[in-house]
Amino acid sequence: MSQHKAEYLQSYPTQISSILAGGYNHPLAREWQSERQLAKNMFIYPLFVTDSPDEETLIEALPNQKRWGINKLIPFVKTLVDKGLRSVILFGVPLAEGAKDEVGSAADDPNGPVITAIKALKENFPDLLIMCDVCLCEYTSHGHCGVLREDGSLIREESVRRLAAVAVNYAKAGAHAVAPSDMIDGRIREIKQGLIDNGLAHRTMLISYSAKFSGNLYGPFREAAGSCPSHGDRKAYQLPPGGRGLARRALARDIEEGADAIIIKPSTFYLDIVRDAAEICRDYPIATYQVSGEFAMLHAAAEKGIVDLKTIAFEAHQGSLRAGANLLISYFTPEFLDWLS
Ligand code: PBG
Ligand code: ZN
Repeated sequence: MSQHKAEYLQSYPTQISSILAGGYNHPLAREWQSERQLAKNMFIYPLFVTDSPDEETLIEALPNQKRWGINKLIPFVKTLVDKGLRSVILFGVPLAEGAKDEVGSAADDPNGPVITAIKALKENFPDLLIMCDVCLCEYTSHGHCGVLREDGSLIREESVRRLAAVAVNYAKAGAHAVAPSDMIDGRIREIKQGLIDNGLAHRTMLISYSAKFSGNLYGPFREAAGSCPSHGDRKAYQLPPGGRGLARRALARDIEEGADAIIIKPSTFYLDIVRDAAEICRDYPIATYQVSGEFAMLHAAAEKGIVDLKTIAFEAHQGSLRAGANLLISYFTPEFLDWLS
């Protein structure tokens, strides 16, 4: 090595700001590097509520998650609220014989699982923000998210009218937020108008699953909720995984139609879309949904010894925040309430 080069290498680090390590050597200094810190108030916990009051059944495909009857749900949620849980999102799972029909009547049955749960949760936990997933697939005989023609395609107008009726009925029952996950064009406008017409718009947050992709990651959920389509798939209404442009258009459209906040789902494989949302929906809360398949994959990887569950859970959720989200819909919520204590 020439003398000149040796001198250069020796002096190089001290002459310019190449040394980053000093900035994150201390554990607290590492925390200071995050634009946003994970906090309990960001977490929204998905709950599966059935119409059989004493039900408490582990869902095999979805580690540690259960289907809850109303009598078991309240004591369970109490343990979480005591640890700092601030918000839940409800999914109804009608199990009763004959509960499903062509138009998903059980979705907003006044005695059905969701409306019963809204009322009980509200009474028991006055500070909890109660969000309801709005969709028909858990309640329709065919398992699709809207109302179908004979040929199996969705009737857009009838579907969005039905979804708006369901959202309005959840809001009437006391839900603080409604989150339509059906992905049918125009449902945000229809729901917002329904909320306005019923004098509910001022107290009901409309959170749109704006960019929801039809990937391969919803399997465990469909098993949990019994919402697998009996024929066909959801590719005609959920976005194709490569469709960044479509997602950007859907984000802009849903804001235009009156959404108060938006959801990107799944999370980990779509962080570029979260970043797009941070720009397109700059003035709105942005949530990611770490969906059932992502959650189950992390558990499977941890069981195989490939990852450490807590470390990977932090990494995954930190990724959402870094990309631009500030709300996290996550099956890991109970763990984070412990981890962030
Ligand atoms: C209902 C709905 C689904 C999810 C949320 N709402 C399933 C689907 O679209 O098939 C998925 C959530 C998850 O996988 O955790 N439309
Ligand atoms: Zn659906």
